Amino acid sequence: MRATMNREGPQTPRASEISLNQLMLPEHANALGNVHGGVILKMVDEAGAIAAMRHARKPCVTIAIDSMTFKQPVHVGQLMVCQARVSYVGRSSIEVQVLVHAEDLLTREVTHTNSAYAVYVALGADGKSAAAPELVLETEEDSRLFGEGQERQRRRTARA
Ligand SMILES: CC(C)(COP(=O)(O)OP(=O)(O)OC[C@H]1O[C@@H](n2cnc3c(N)ncnc32)[C@H](O)[C@@H]1OP(=O)(O)O)[C@@H](O)C(=O)NCCC(=O)NCCS
Repeated sequence: MRATMNREGPQTPRASEISLNQLMLPEHANALGNVHGGVILKMVDEAGAIAAMRHARKPCVTIAIDSMTFKQPVHVGQLMVCQARVSYVGRSSIEVQVLVHAEDLLTREVTHTNSAYAVYVALGADGKSAAAPELVLETEEDSRLFGEGQERQRRRTARA
């Protein structure tokens, strides 16, 4: 019999991480023919929200997306890949790291185009913030990301 995960209890980043992939078409382009920044932001937010909801198993809303820079264009015809993993969890807040890559399907060349951190809040049935499961830190990288996320979240809430 296959083991089932405890949906309510602590969860590792691996339990919720996802990859959201989409082929970039002319409808995603800006006037220069590259992929519109807004399309990238939307996909980043979607990937982050899915990871947050997979972690919490509750509805989650976006409360913050850290500033994003666009150093490399994504081109029409490339596969845009958004890899999202939970990096930090407070009480109801869930920070997700989203890495964006563009893959040339013909040459296999992969370019890292953006990285982003977004924060989601888990909601209860009353629509108010609700506790999210604790994040289980299994690896050194989990612990590093968590510590950095805690500091980022401290700065965000100090600014708010
Ligand atoms: C998300 C929302 C329900 C939170 O309401 P709230 O009254 O601020 O709730 P809380 O005070 O309990 O704060 C919830 C969490 O957000 C965190 N938070 C508050 N301001 C923040 C900010 N600027 N950046 C990151 N996290 C923030 C708090 O620290 C808290 O985290 P914790 O529970 O881990 O300690 C409310 O702000 C909201 O509805 N926002 C609109 C969401 C939305 O429409 N998003 C776009 C579409 S999805």
